[in-house]
Amino acid sequence: MKILITGANGLLGSDIVHSAAGRQPQAYEIIKACSKPSAGFLSADLTTETGIRKISESEWDTLIHTAAWRNPDQCDKDKGGAHRLNAWSTEQLASEAANRGAKMLYISTDYVFPGTNPPYKENNNPSPVNYYGESKLLGEKAVLNLCADSCILRIPLLYGTRGGLAKSDLLAGTLKALSSEKPRTMEDSIVRYPTYTGDVAEAIFFLLEKNASGIFHFSGQDKTSRYRITATLAKIFGKSMKNIVRLEEAPKTEALRPHDSHLGMEKILSMGFPLPLPFDDRMRSLKDEIEQAL
Ligand SMILES: NC(=O)c1ccc[n+]([C@@H]2O[C@H](COP(=O)([O-])OP(=O)(O)OC[C@H]3O[C@@H](n4cnc5c(N)ncnc54)[C@H](OP(=O)(O)O)[C@@H]3O)[C@@H](O)[C@H]2O)c1
Repeated sequence: MKILITGANGLLGSDIVHSAAGRQPQAYEIIKACSKPSAGFLSADLTTETGIRKISESEWDTLIHTAAWRNPDQCDKDKGGAHRLNAWSTEQLASEAANRGAKMLYISTDYVFPGTNPPYKENNNPSPVNYYGESKLLGEKAVLNLCADSCILRIPLLYGTRGGLAKSDLLAGTLKALSSEKPRTMEDSIVRYPTYTGDVAEAIFFLLEKNASGIFHFSGQDKTSRYRITATLAKIFGKSMKNIVRLEEAPKTEALRPHDSHLGMEKILSMGFPLPLPFDDRMRSLKDEIEQAL
């Protein structure tokens, strides 16, 4: 399998590249793509015709498309920019995959759901509350309409270390808040299911190796909030919560957030994929690596 990965230097893409390298007995040839010129990467700005052409001129039989704008406030503020990368580029890539008879695996989000009636199954009707979710849903529709051999994997809030700690706000941002000398607020209202990028990468190769098609959900198992995540990290990293101020309600943001967009993942579990480690066990296993990177 010759796989092209978009967003290959991102929070998730870095773990997909890492998982591909470690897999046996299946051997993968990997082309890593990102937007900026970088050694070892195919640089292709997917918002431009030239960038799309560079992907079309590469040799691959499988495309994993992770590149996206994923900040909901940025997407609401610049809908044109969000549409160009999250929807338009996905449509172009789905056409290209279909033309060459390739498989396309598209990474989507729990934010396609409104968050009012969880857990959500793969066949529940999406109805996003912000433009990020809307633009990713347009991407999903393009993939399903254009590319016969396609797979969509929806995932929630990610954390990971492989792409560099700074890319993982859940880790870097929370640990920075815990080290702050000034009071820092953390909301305890929106329901989160933090999901480890290494587990998502394994789920991606599981689906590719089973030649799966259609929509799948994958999620961490712990029902929590930003405040409770902060308390877990404080305990594991031996930090004080003295400067952390609990907010009962989430502060107003540019874009609305779904309250609880929990993704039910029975479909992938029923195929034999294992449940991910609980959040605090995973954090303990990453503790040394994170402390060295700080
Ligand atoms: N992070 C989360 O919590 C989360 C939650 C649910 C779903 N997701 C989904 O997971 C996927 C991966 O997210 P992530 O967190 O890994 O994102 P990320 O860390 O922000 O990485 C984004 C990647 O997209 C690339 N990219 C940005 N603009 C581009 C452009 N114009 N042309 C080509 N590439 C471009 C970036 O390359 P450069 O650095 O070179 O610009 C980078 O590799 C996304 O589809 C996102 O919607 C993420």
